[in-house]
Amino acid sequence: MAIIPTLREGRITIRPIRLRDARPLERELLDNRGWLRQWEATNPRGPMSFDTRASIRALQSNARTGQGLPFIIEVDGELAGQLNVSGIAYGSTSSASTGYWVGERFAGVGATPTAVALATDYCFQQLGLHRMEICIRPENDKSLRVVAKLGFRYEGLRRRFIHINGDWRDHFCFALVAEEIPTGVLRRWLDGKVPTDAALIPDGDRDAAERPFPA
Ligand SMILES: CC(C)(COP(=O)(O)OP(=O)(O)OC[C@H]1O[C@@H](n2cnc3c(N)ncnc32)[C@H](O)[C@@H]1OP(=O)(O)O)[C@@H](O)C(=O)NCCC(=O)NCCS
Repeated sequence: MAIIPTLREGRITIRPIRLRDARPLERELLDNRGWLRQWEATNPRGPMSFDTRASIRALQSNARTGQGLPFIIEVDGELAGQLNVSGIAYGSTSSASTGYWVGERFAGVGATPTAVALATDYCFQQLGLHRMEICIRPENDKSLRVVAKLGFRYEGLRRRFIHINGDWRDHFCFALVAEEIPTGVLRRWLDGKVPTDAALIPDGDRDAAERPFPA
């Protein structure tokens, strides 16, 4: 099992999710239905469970097998959202994916880029992972800003890649490998040294994502 650390930068903390987060987490999820629904992973086999305690237990059990790092994002000590590192693979791929959300009242203070930077640096520097990936729906301009700020490198369009809000949705994928950022993602961002064009999406992929698939 990977240790899930508590990490801080300024007003933002990421810490392991706990069962006693169930009630405030459920409140935040319910208060933000309209804000989150369009971007939420759904179950292709049927209705979603809204049992927050069961979801936390599932995340914790996944963490015990070393496959995930489930974090709560806090802003000024208040539960603001979640960041999950999932699909951790060791050995010759040594990679993982990151997903995240914050409640609308916490938007725009840089909570998510800070949380992603902290988690990514931990995965590279402490877990020894080599590649970290973030996949985003083409319509999600706010989330595309997060990868642009941190300089995640655009890798390509994946058609109908993840089941979101009731259907298979296209995603733009971004990644970093450890040797691209020897100083760390957070340090590079704070120092203003993020390359401005890393997350640029070619027009051809934007156009392709607007066309139905399969044609
Ligand atoms: C995408 C998301 C995680 C970004 O988190 P965040 O902590 O607000 O990130 P930032 O503070 O860096 O803001 C990112 C962008 O959101 C937009 N934004 C900022 N404040 C906002 C607000 N109050 N309302 C709406 N959008 C806002 C801005 O475009 C901002 O980019 P900018 O700083 O260049 O202006 C958050 O908007 C969210 O949880 N959205 C719903 C769930 C979701 O999309 N999850 C990601 C799935 S891939």
